[in-house]
Amino acid sequence: MSEPRRDLRPGPEEHRLQGHWLLAKMGKRVLRPGGIEMTQRLLSAAAPSTTDRIVEFGPGVGRTAEHLLAVNPVSYTAVDPNPEGAPALAEVMAPYPQAQKVTADAAETGLEDGCADLVVGEAMLTMQSPAGKAAIVAEAARILAPGGRYLVHELGFHPDNLPAEVVKEVQKGLSRSIKVGARPLTEQEWRKLLESAGLEVEFVWTNAMALLEPKRMIQDEGLGGFLKFVKNMVTNPAGRKRVLGMRKVFRANREYLNAIGLVARKL
Ligand SMILES: C[S@@+](CC[C@H](N)C(=O)[O-])C[C@H]1O[C@@H](n2cnc3c(N)ncnc32)[C@H](O)[C@@H]1O
Repeated sequence: MSEPRRDLRPGPEEHRLQGHWLLAKMGKRVLRPGGIEMTQRLLSAAAPSTTDRIVEFGPGVGRTAEHLLAVNPVSYTAVDPNPEGAPALAEVMAPYPQAQKVTADAAETGLEDGCADLVVGEAMLTMQSPAGKAAIVAEAARILAPGGRYLVHELGFHPDNLPAEVVKEVQKGLSRSIKVGARPLTEQEWRKLLESAGLEVEFVWTNAMALLEPKRMIQDEGLGGFLKFVKNMVTNPAGRKRVLGMRKVFRANREYLNAIGLVARKL
């Protein structure tokens, strides 16, 4: 007998949602491992400006779009194939006539060669297969104009020489808990991925993977946002169970995981 389709399985959707959409449903807006602190460090290095044409891969609910649009760039294009974050993103983009959304896979954006000065992608490469990662990075390199920057913020494995069995076990535990394939890379591997597409890494920064730790959540969501999340945890038992399960897996693997950000330039 064939397995029932995931999206048709009975029970509340909290049992099925991918981890990031579950967290968004519970009120979280920052859906990346290194938090706002890391995003800000990376944005300082990439220095978005009014003269930039910006493309963001996988914007989620538009929290980084807020920072990018506040700069008042020449243009901002969000590329995401999924509908879940679209309403919140549309609200963020609404005041900015230069903002548009393209519903497409970042591996095949349909955008012109050299049409961007800055490409931003956070927490969207880790979930791709090795071939998927390479295709997205190649697409970023293709749409960047010479001298353009690519900002990446993802999940890292450390140290660089982790035994293959540990890597496999951690990937398995993470993927099961967040219900999406999670394939973090070591710093060396992230660098190599970008360099293989002809990009030169100019800046690397790491942070603790503390996505669901209270201190980081207050930093990321503000006290009001954190309290809203806590209220949703109290009133939504199915959501609470999943979130606590995810946090347990993150904590159990914290010695092997970090958040890593890189800014690379197209020569
Ligand atoms: C974990 S969320 C991160 C959202 C946001 N970047 C953040 O850091 O808060 C992953 C995002 O990547 C998007 N995504 C997943 N696969 C993608 C792909 N192949 N191309 C473009 N976006 C993708 C998802 O729809 C979602 O918006």
